[in-house]
Amino acid sequence: MQALNIPSECTPLLNLSGKPQFGDYQANGAMGAAKHLKTNPRELAQKILEQVDLTEIAEKTEIAGPGFINITLKNDYLADCLKNCLDKPSIAAKNIVIDYSGPNLAKEMHVGHLRSTIIGDALARVLEYQGQNVIRQNHMGDWGTQFGMLIAELELQLSKGDQAELALSDLEVFYQQSKKHFDADPEFADTARAYVVKLQSGDANCLKLWKQFIDVSVAHNSEIYQQLNVGLTAEHIKPESAYNQDLEWIVKDLESKKLAIESDGAKVVFLEELADKNGDPSPMIVQKSGGGFLYATTDLAALKYRAETLNVDRALYFIDARQSLHMKQVFTTSKKANYVADTVSLEHHAFGTMMGSNGKPFKTRTGGTVKLADLLLEAVERAEKLVREKNTDLSEQEIKDIAQKVGIGAVKYADLSKTRTNDYIFEWDSMLSFEGNTAPYLQYAYTRIYSIFRKAGIDLEGFSADITIVEPQEKQLALKLLQFNEVINQVAVDCYPHTLCTYLYELSSLFMSFYEHCPILKSGIAPETAQSRLQLCAYSASILQKGLDLLGIEVMEKM
Ligand code: ARG
Repeated sequence: MQALNIPSECTPLLNLSGKPQFGDYQANGAMGAAKHLKTNPRELAQKILEQVDLTEIAEKTEIAGPGFINITLKNDYLADCLKNCLDKPSIAAKNIVIDYSGPNLAKEMHVGHLRSTIIGDALARVLEYQGQNVIRQNHMGDWGTQFGMLIAELELQLSKGDQAELALSDLEVFYQQSKKHFDADPEFADTARAYVVKLQSGDANCLKLWKQFIDVSVAHNSEIYQQLNVGLTAEHIKPESAYNQDLEWIVKDLESKKLAIESDGAKVVFLEELADKNGDPSPMIVQKSGGGFLYATTDLAALKYRAETLNVDRALYFIDARQSLHMKQVFTTSKKANYVADTVSLEHHAFGTMMGSNGKPFKTRTGGTVKLADLLLEAVERAEKLVREKNTDLSEQEIKDIAQKVGIGAVKYADLSKTRTNDYIFEWDSMLSFEGNTAPYLQYAYTRIYSIFRKAGIDLEGFSADITIVEPQEKQLALKLLQFNEVINQVAVDCYPHTLCTYLYELSSLFMSFYEHCPILKSGIAPETAQSRLQLCAYSASILQKGLDLLGIEVMEKM
């Protein structure tokens, strides 16, 4: 580019070409560069081609239309590249905090927590695979006024001789009971309110009850994480209460920096940079008039900790789109207060809502919130029914194991494969279908490959053979396999996991058409050809398995 005086802001715009007749890759940057240089784009494209030496890798290059450069790669070159297709990307590692799941512990986890939990987990896996230093942070809601009511109820039930585990075996029922008491019994309500204050001032009895409650609730969440194949454990929990001792300091500091001011008895940060259309600054309350601190105060303390102690380069938040303003306020304030250096990238990766088939937020038939545990149970039950119908020679244990992977995989994939920022409709039938862009389709594609090796009597693990690319289907598959790391790097930047889903779906489709057109185990196929094709199969299996694993979805050898 330098030799031709092309300014550095012009990029080659190198992309896969949409159609085989335009070669394998297209470089479309010549037109833009020609505009800058005020020259003829086709002539510039010609000069660019004269400057770069593609003889080693390209079989053909040509200039098309106004100045597209079409490149057809050599089959040998592709086969050679494939040897490294399973290598990890090489990057300079950064410290990346991922804030995800963060359920409120007062109640049982419900479907509203699904998206943050599985999207955040997919990103944690992707970034870890890239070699980043990933720090998972589960910002659980374990503090606030509701806990006064809940521990008053727990004390009541324990005084009747109940065991804590038993009393709390259904957190939803427990919450309803305590709410009923709170609304109907003024004495109970007074105790509850007094307990909020006592809890905050560190009263030993209240803290003990609170801890009992929290332990049971956390244990419930851990079960859900396991069921979901999500990698969140106790070490990742850094709940709201962990920042309690920092909140007073935060408010004082914001006041001393003239960022927080008193307004109607409360302490408020007014943000000009987030002013509404009338020009009124956006208010963020950091302390209520009664003295209580808020969700925002805790988030400021958490971000300060992440920047100063965890030393992050990037902080990613996977939270519902409805909290967009809250996140903007927290990010803006933390930079103004110098809790976070300007170089740190603060990113709220918002997502839409999971809808029922009626187009309204997903609810039970009677309009209640759907418990996540129930939803996952139903997924596995439905999957089990399907597996029984499809395959009759599996053992009981195999059926259970496959149903678990298919059911959970289907729920996760249906979510991850949609553009994150949109709402989506939750539909059992389409997510469990063995056709189309679904987890069962991809898992099935994987088992197909496995069965080819089984039939050939060859071990898939550790298989290695030379590849010779001849047929167009082989070439298409090879090109796709080589894009895996590109896709991973893309997802790592913009945090849209559906890009990876689309890639895996296209890979499976290309594999299926390769398999149809390029026989392997048929008689008359030369042994070298069969070996080469088996190697393409093995790479496809590895990448499918790896890609699904990065989405937190498991594969199996048969189904
Ligand atoms: N507990 C919050 C909720 O359920 C989510 C926490 C998200 N993380 C954060 N740092 N605010 O809405």
